Amino acid sequence: KIIVLDFGSQYNQLITRRLRELGVYSELLSNKLTADEIIAKGNVKGIILSGGPKSVYANDAYHVDPAIFELGIPVLGICYGMQLITYLFKGKVERGHHREYGQAPIQILKNDSAFFKGLGDSQQVLMSHGDLVTQAPQGFEVTGQTAACPIAAFENPERNIYGVQFHPEVRLSVNGNTMLKNFAFNICGAQGNWTMENFIDLAVQSIQEKVGNRKVLLGLSGGVDSSVVGVLLQKAIGDQLVCIFVDHGLLRKNEGDSVMATLEQFGLHIIRVDAKDRFLGKLAGVADPERKRKIIGNEFVYVFDDEASKLNGIDFLAQGTLYTDVIESGTDSAQTIKSHHNVGGLPEDMQFELIEPLNTLFKDEVRALGEALGMPHNIVWRQPFPGPGLAIRVLGEVTEEKLEIVRESDAILREVIAQRGLEKDVWQYFTVLPNVKSVGVMGDERTYDHMVGIRAITSIDGMTGEFAQLPWDVLQEISTRIVNEVAHVNRIVYDITGKPPATIEWE
Ligand code: XMP
Repeated sequence: KIIVLDFGSQYNQLITRRLRELGVYSELLSNKLTADEIIAKGNVKGIILSGGPKSVYANDAYHVDPAIFELGIPVLGICYGMQLITYLFKGKVERGHHREYGQAPIQILKNDSAFFKGLGDSQQVLMSHGDLVTQAPQGFEVTGQTAACPIAAFENPERNIYGVQFHPEVRLSVNGNTMLKNFAFNICGAQGNWTMENFIDLAVQSIQEKVGNRKVLLGLSGGVDSSVVGVLLQKAIGDQLVCIFVDHGLLRKNEGDSVMATLEQFGLHIIRVDAKDRFLGKLAGVADPERKRKIIGNEFVYVFDDEASKLNGIDFLAQGTLYTDVIESGTDSAQTIKSHHNVGGLPEDMQFELIEPLNTLFKDEVRALGEALGMPHNIVWRQPFPGPGLAIRVLGEVTEEKLEIVRESDAILREVIAQRGLEKDVWQYFTVLPNVKSVGVMGDERTYDHMVGIRAITSIDGMTGEFAQLPWDVLQEISTRIVNEVAHVNRIVYDITGKPPATIEWE
């Protein structure tokens, strides 16, 4: 495997993902990991120091255990990572006169560089930095330059240390994949034979080691992620697994019954808990989105606690947490965008130990995993539904009446999308209730009623996305049906923002 140490760049997740696409297992790990801890991970073939927003001279700059350079494992520094190498090996990093952001041609100065092997003299790459290296450390050869950055790549092949100021992991660096391939295969000697089947074997083994003969509780939502975890855990520990499906009263129309029916086919032992009153009680009067998310995250665990105490001997709580949930909920080095219910929403006094076998993966990788586990298409390709459910689609305070409007309008939206055969074209689609009333006229009468928003977005992994360009006549049909069939709605709007700058959910 090749590990990536995290210094906070927004592109970090892409590095691990590109490597996995090359068939090399990769994980993003904390920059605080020591050389010994890295060795303990076993079979580490290469280390990548990621980019990040800080300056190496800042008081709160992130550093790295210098002993990692003595392990005999090749190291690649990207952007901040390159500057950190320069700093540690006593070269010079300075503040640039301008920030350089955008595609630029890099001229390759060393034909036989293992990193640039097979590439022509000039390459389009994405530069994105304020600071830059102005003097390479002793023993390092400059291998690339751009007009604005005379030291855009360097290397010390004897010590197997490489650095690039640009970002090879993004598509805007046209041959970046070849460079990562060169690093992974030629420099690190990785094999490139990693597949989802290997992931399953590794995950099963590590779950078995961790759990032993103890018991695990899994919160099952019927969504792709927790269902995949369920099947994976069952493969690993069989009937030491107990699943709980919590109906928190924030589900879509008829969802509870249909989830139970769908999951039965896997032979999982599932307990259904009706916790609607608990959740709605706790949410009463609460309008702040982060507070709502935290309350729901906490309440889930309290329900799990109560159920576990009836069963006795349960030590672990398994969750379908994805990498996206982790990064958006904030890490040591990345900012909090929103607290996903299963990460930032967990209570501090939680008694369980966590098992999160998917927390290094992206949504599309989880779907590939589901298929590798032999799960049926209709589950693996279900559109995502957030754990906090309709509570984050009713903006502001959650009430039964408002939930009903979202539930009914959402059912109509889904029905029309399905009838029109558009399910596969749109990544996620739902309605929201923005808590805004406006004036309308229906049958000669003035109305003063709710506005409903339609959100439909295309995406690959939920990290970024574009609003879906649904045909006008489809939108028209949805609009007409919602206004006619759902009480207290007199206006429909369509959300035409991508992510970024918006997020997919409205809260
Ligand atoms: P955002 O709104 O952050 O959503 O752009 C990205 C994806 O994540 C889903 N989402 C969640 N999923 N728990 C979840 O399980 C959560 O707390 C949560 N918040 C957002 C969202 O539906 C979208 O697919």
